[in-house]
Amino acid sequence: EKAGYKHFMAKEIAEQPVVIAGALKHYTSPEGTLHLPEELDFKAIDRITLVACGTASYACHVAKYWFEQLAQLPADIDIASEFRYRDPVLSPASMAVFVSQSGETADTLAALRHTREKVAKVVAVVNVPTSSIARESDLALPIMAGVEVGVASTKAFTCQLVTLALMALKAAADRGRIDAGDLRQRLQSLRALPGILNAALGLSDPIATIAAELAKAQDILFLGRGAMFPLALEGALKLKEISYIHAEGYASGELKHGPIALIDAQVPVIVLAPKDALFDKTVSNMQEVMARNGKVLLLSDAAGIQAAGQGSWKTLTLPAVDPLWAPILYAVPAQLLAYHTAIAKGTDVDQPRNLAKSVTVE
Ligand code: F6R
Repeated sequence: EKAGYKHFMAKEIAEQPVVIAGALKHYTSPEGTLHLPEELDFKAIDRITLVACGTASYACHVAKYWFEQLAQLPADIDIASEFRYRDPVLSPASMAVFVSQSGETADTLAALRHTREKVAKVVAVVNVPTSSIARESDLALPIMAGVEVGVASTKAFTCQLVTLALMALKAAADRGRIDAGDLRQRLQSLRALPGILNAALGLSDPIATIAAELAKAQDILFLGRGAMFPLALEGALKLKEISYIHAEGYASGELKHGPIALIDAQVPVIVLAPKDALFDKTVSNMQEVMARNGKVLLLSDAAGIQAAGQGSWKTLTLPAVDPLWAPILYAVPAQLLAYHTAIAKGTDVDQPRNLAKSVTVE
């Protein structure tokens, strides 16, 4: 059932181009139109609140950038265990979105029950369409990832991102913030993702070589700016979950406000920086690390590596991608880095200690 792979996690990482293509086929037409349910209507919505736990919450965090940038829709994000015990101020004209692979996470389900009656629409973004979170929502959108067995979420994360990206495009269209031509172009660049992710999967061997070095580290930092900031959080979570190495993700600009004190020649710093509008800012943060003998692993595209790769400890060249969808692509090397580091350490990749696939208690 592992289809020739050593671990479910490896199989599920490799499946991403196929399941993403399936999700895109499910929610779009080849002519470049969106096929999302009519009930997913953003015309009268004044705010969107996205709530989840763990990796799913990082998908929400990425989506916040998309809803704001594409649809100019104010977007709040929160982790479910905090949201349910605050008194969140909810607009009656808002949409609340609960993202969960399993659809059974206790905190996310409780947060959902907390918003019922208080918002205009409750939407679930789930992998299991028969789950409690799907059943208790006004509308459930399946992410089409197929069964995910590995405890560390991989293909569910990228399928959550694809589904949320399509929702943000629908919000942009409903709110008149994108014209037909731009929408078609954004959908086209989404449809290029399966091929681009396939190319990224080809980096598995060089990533394994780098991971053999990372496995010796005690602490690892991930940096990203803009929508790559939540990817830094996700990269760090994935790594600590399965390799048990202490890792933290930071927004690049936060570095000098504290974490830079950790930098020395022993601390690898993984910089997620496609050559986008924010690239130069991130590079200057990266140079602050290098000036303190930090070991930088730069992940960028060919143009980025050429412009700023010099002086880094290692580089990984990813394919170029529509900057908007870069978080979906950069998830793949983040997952592979965690996977190969865990393999190098000899830990149980599919069943990491102390973790459960579905967290049905508080
Ligand atoms: C991380 C991971 C967890 C889950 C979290 C939410 O790899 O798998 O952080 O993302 O427990 O689970 P779901 O999505 O089932 O609500």
